[in-house]
Amino acid sequence: MIFKPKIIIEDNPVSLSFRAADIFVQTAIDSVEKRTSFSVAISGGSTPRAMHRMLGEEPYRSNIPWDKTCLFWVDERCVPEYDHTSNYGTAKSDFLDKVPIPKKHLHPMPAERFPEDGAAAYQKVLKAFFRIDKTSFPVFDLIFLGIGTDGHIASLFPEHRSLAEKERLVVAVKGGNPNLTRLTLTYPVLNRARKIVFLVSGNGKSEIVKRMLSGGQAGFPAQKINPVKGELLWLVDRDAASLLSKAVLVNKIK
Ligand code: 6PG
Repeated sequence: MIFKPKIIIEDNPVSLSFRAADIFVQTAIDSVEKRTSFSVAISGGSTPRAMHRMLGEEPYRSNIPWDKTCLFWVDERCVPEYDHTSNYGTAKSDFLDKVPIPKKHLHPMPAERFPEDGAAAYQKVLKAFFRIDKTSFPVFDLIFLGIGTDGHIASLFPEHRSLAEKERLVVAVKGGNPNLTRLTLTYPVLNRARKIVFLVSGNGKSEIVKRMLSGGQAGFPAQKINPVKGELLWLVDRDAASLLSKAVLVNKIK
């Protein structure tokens, strides 16, 4: 695979989150202008939380066309919304309760159903929302991904059979930290997005960022993120980028 994503390096986690929030706003505005609506899928984990909180505050709160924004999740832990590990519950308290997004535009994964049923139900939600037939895949305007130190993205974990999924849009898996049953979007959905942004922060991620962006050695789930037509952007802070070589940094943009 020829792997040439754009890379943006921010000084620290705060400027990283501001940059991510700016991308959210700009992509929302552009998408509404071009297609009259904005579809975005967000990740869980700790890294995007600062950005999420910013989206609930000014100036972001007023600059986002919430009435045209439709929010989905790339993955969810199969726990109730009030559980502190719930991606939806966390996003709700971080920003969704603070912004004027119509409730019907929120599409949390059905985390409290039998997992296989939940996955099938979310697939139906996606097919209906994107008005696609049995064999087609949704095209999100924007997808935010985090990455684990083992190279996982969403809830697509190393060596799991879900990595080979080519037809279903959503599957149930068990794994991760916390080790829970989860629902996750699959590669055919992720890779069709118009824009995919990896958001990565901290020294602890420097080794995986280096291994991802230096090419070679396949095998990490994140290495199969290769947009069909869309744009791929790595938004990392200085600590996470600390092991990147000059050769990789030729792909750096301002
Ligand atoms: C989840 C995720 C997961 C996450 C990474 C990075 O819900 O667990 O979507 O893929 O993005 O594990 O998590 P951190 O940001 O906490 O490092």
